[in-house]
Amino acid sequence: HMVDYLLKNVDCEIFGAIRRISVPNYRNIKHLEKEKRFNFIKLDLNDSHSIKNAILDIEPDYFINFGAQSFVKSSWDYPEQTFNTDATAIIHILESLRRFAPKCHFYNAGSSEEFGDVIYSPQNEEHPLRPQSPYGAAKCAARHLVRVYKESYDLYAIQGWLFNHEGTRRGFEFVTRKISSEVARIKKSIEKGEDFEPLRLGNLEARRDWTDAEDFMDGVWKMLNQKTTDPKNYVLASGEMHTIREFLELTLEQAGIEFLKTGADDKEKYLNEDGQEIVKIDKRYYRHAEVHELLGDPTLAKEELGWHPKGSFESLVKKMYNNDYNKDS
Ligand code: GDD
Repeated sequence: HMVDYLLKNVDCEIFGAIRRISVPNYRNIKHLEKEKRFNFIKLDLNDSHSIKNAILDIEPDYFINFGAQSFVKSSWDYPEQTFNTDATAIIHILESLRRFAPKCHFYNAGSSEEFGDVIYSPQNEEHPLRPQSPYGAAKCAARHLVRVYKESYDLYAIQGWLFNHEGTRRGFEFVTRKISSEVARIKKSIEKGEDFEPLRLGNLEARRDWTDAEDFMDGVWKMLNQKTTDPKNYVLASGEMHTIREFLELTLEQAGIEFLKTGADDKEKYLNEDGQEIVKIDKRYYRHAEVHELLGDPTLAKEELGWHPKGSFESLVKKMYNNDYNKDS
């Protein structure tokens, strides 16, 4: 999305990092292959040499790091890998920038997960950092590093707080895409009169502030271009909070699947009008520690950057479901 935004709005050469993985997964970036102003480079956040080499070779004016081990639940399974990718790698980026590209504007992806166990809602830039997961803790460490390097070396280095960002390019393990793709699968089976497995979900009562990821790109670019030598970090969010249950039920409505609910807590189920199980609770998707609610306050970004999200919760649900329903496979 950022590359798409830059190609459309900014006249610059763009380099996008890919790393080696045994089964390539380039479905979200395939369309960039033929772009003249776009180049793929090899860079792995867990290889400091590749970071340094990229910065030495390119001498970038901007460096945007959206790379991360970004799946919160996996951060309990791989806490060290998460910390290396989400925090230690930021030291390597900052070290190379200060030595080889000190004028570069650096953006590191911060997260509402840094607020974690929130003490007031909505959360603004002043909310204390109270992470609930190894992922959130790593992002907090990165935030402190970005600030320390900014202040120590006069770097243009920032880390905005992005609340949940979703859309048609979202990974299938995240709850919104899991719901949109699985409800589309179930809908197609119902239409064909085939048997189907239910959608299995964890905590339906958690509340999140969801925005279309595309809407955030302009905010990030504006954060990177503040007319000051002392740039600020801003919260980007929709300012609306919904439960996972609301996302699920709106998606079912969008699919035209009528439902009724039975049971409670981890015995809860959703049945369709033919009594088939369409959704069930599965404790495997519960987290060791949950972030129960996140609601962002984007007032400052709106007032000072002139950033505004375009889409709504309803348009996001509709877009994600329709995209998955209309996919070939
Ligand atoms: N993934 C998932 N799968 N989450 C579920 C499920 C399920 O089956 N059932 C319920 N949930 C709940 C989780 O417990 C959590 O409260 C919520 O759905 C959202 O989970 P995710 O979609 O995995 O996202 P996240 O909020 O943990 O993290 C995302 O947003 C952050 C910004 O706040 C990620 O994109 C992070 O990288 C990002 O920083």
